[in-house]
Formats: sequence, structure tokens, C-alpha cells
Amino acid sequence: MSKLLPNPYGPKGWTPERLSSLKGKTYLVTGANVGAGFEATKVLVSKEAKVVMLCRNPGKAASAIEAIKQQYPVAELSFIQLDLASLESVRSAADAIKRDIPKIDALICNAAIAQVAKQEMTIDGFESQLGVNHYGHFLLCGLLFDRVNESAGRIVVVGSMGYNMGLKTIQFDDLNFDHNYNPMNSYSHSKLAQMVFAYELQHRVREAGLKMQVHVCHPGAARTTLSQEEANLPTRILFKLLSPLAQSAERGSWPEVLCATEDHLEPYAFYGPTKRAQMVGPVGKCILMPHALDREMANRLWAVSEQKTGISWSP
Ligand SMILES: NC(=O)c1ccc[n+]([C@@H]2O[C@H](COP(=O)([O-])OP(=O)(O)OC[C@H]3O[C@@H](n4cnc5c(N)ncnc54)[C@H](OP(=O)(O)O)[C@@H]3O)[C@@H](O)[C@H]2O)c1
Repeated sequence: MSKLLPNPYGPKGWTPERLSSLKGKTYLVTGANVGAGFEATKVLVSKEAKVVMLCRNPGKAASAIEAIKQQYPVAELSFIQLDLASLESVRSAADAIKRDIPKIDALICNAAIAQVAKQEMTIDGFESQLGVNHYGHFLLCGLLFDRVNESAGRIVVVGSMGYNMGLKTIQFDDLNFDHNYNPMNSYSHSKLAQMVFAYELQHRVREAGLKMQVHVCHPGAARTTLSQEEANLPTRILFKLLSPLAQSAERGSWPEVLCATEDHLEPYAFYGPTKRAQMVGPVGKCILMPHALDREMANRLWAVSEQKTGISWSP
């Protein structure tokens, strides 16, 4: 394993204090109503950016907007319904975005489900974590790619240290885990899929000489609502017991804000907290293991994802 280099943002790491005004910028955040997505939205509107919240539940989105407006009354916030567990919903959301949002400075792929207790399927027949976390975002990115590119914007993929747990590969012969379903392995598999896709997209964008950028990050261990509904009871108890060791959801949001806004980011980098097994602490560049950059696996995953989601796209 390579060693961590000195933090490019100094000993405190990257913090929102580095941000200047984001007036005139528009950010799209999936899963913006709670957790890291909600906190990232707050940071962005606190700097005068406009945020379009892409959430599955209109009631929760409305409550989140109300809560943010109490703190930032002039916040420019809007909501478009997006259920990543349904390809049809992703397509409708992308149509609404293309109709109403002329410029995308960053599309932040933040939403996820995790540790789903038993194998569940999305409406389109995908293992739920792979379906929501990877296929839903793959389709959304494909449908919005031209708009992001025309805006010289960014795609930010929120990964997880889970990419380096579990199988550490894409299980092409049983993508739905029909034979070996395990909540942790299947979650890790979905996060690895997201990251392998993101680095392949980054590679293709760079090869094509495009202005848009792709960046990858993770929040470390952050106290959010992740796994609270979907996980089995022992996992929920374990996460509760471990929560004092985790950092706040606000700190967990900083890597995604960094990736959406900071200049001079490096390719093939993985931004996140850098202390205690990269779970908490100053935000900087984390160690990235080579299996996330396996291009043979990435190209195969890309082809499968195109076939499963019914879209053919590439930079
Ligand atoms: N928290 C951690 O320690 C940790 C660690 C590693 C990686 N991460 C990653 O960090 C990101 C943010 O997670 P978080 O911890 O902030 O989790 P969170 O508090 O549970 O928030 C997840 C968000 O995703 C949304 N979502 C779930 N299913 C969706 C669907 N089908 N369509 C649209 N939105 C959906 C949720 O909406 P609802 O409110 O409607 O459910 C919620 O807004 C995720 O990518 C996660 O994998 C988190």
C-alpha cells in the first residue's frame, strides 16, 4: 500500500473556509434531503450557489428545503423527483433537468442505500444496492453528460472505503448475488462499481480532451441515516455502538464539496478524510488501491451497465 503524502490543503485539510462565492453556479445533488447530501447542499447555498436537490421523496425534500431556508432564508433551492431504483424515474428526472436547468456546474452522485438486510430487487430487476447506487447513477450521468460537458462542469461520484472490502471485484457471473448475497459484500460491490465507472469516465474524458471533469471521494465514517432502515438489527446496533467514533455528517460532506468546487484536482485521486484508516480527520487525498483502476474490469462493467440500463454513451 502506498503511503499518504502531506495534505495539499495543510494540516487542517480541506474545509469550506477555502470557498469563495459560488454565486451563479448550479449544483445537482442526489439524495440531498439528509446526511452528507443535505450538509453539502447547506455548504453550497451558504456560498450563494443554486442547488437542485434530486430526491426520491417529495415530502422529505420539502422538509429539507424548509430546514435549510430557516438557516439561509435566501437560499436558491429547488427539487426534482428522482428515484434511482427506477430507470423510468431516472429518465423523467433527466428530462426535467434538461428542460429546466441550463447549466450544471457539478452533478454530485451522493445518494445511496447500504447494508440491505436481505437480497431485494429494484423494479427493473437489479440487486437493490447495485441498482440504486450504480445503475441509477450510471444512467443519470449518461443522460446528463452533454449538459455537464457543455457547462464545463463536473461529475462527482461519492464512493466509500467499502470499495476495498468484500469481494474487491465485480461479480460479473452473478451481479444480483443470487448465490452469495451478503449485505456488506453487496454494498461494497456497488460502491466499487461506482468508483470503477467513475475512474473509467475520468479516463475517457481526459483522453477525449474535454473540459468537464470527473472526481471521486468518500465521506469516511459519518453519522448519517445510512443503513438505519435497510440494515438488519445486529448491523444497526453495531453502527450505533460505533457512531461515537465517526465524524459529523457535516464533515462527511466536505469531500464531495471539495470535488465539486476546488481547482487543480488530480486524476485518479480519491478525496476523503485521511486519519484513522481514512475514516475521520483532515480531508485530503486518500490512498487508492489499484483494483479501482482496473480498466479491463471497467470496460466490461461499462458495457454491462449500458446493456442493463438501455443507454449507449461515452465521452
Ligand atoms: N455515512 C457513512 O459513514 C458513509 C460511509 C461511506 C460512504 N458513504 C456514502 O456517502 C453517501 C451519502 O450517504 P449518507 O451517509 O449521507 O446516507 P444517508 O443519510 O442515508 O442519505 C442517503 C440519501 O440517499 C437517498 N436515496 C436512497 N435511495 C434512493 C433512491 N432510490 N433514489 C434517490 N435517492 C435515494 C436517501 O433518500 P431517503 O431520505 O428518501 O431515504 C438519502 O437522501 C453515499 O453514497 C454513501 O454510500 C457514507
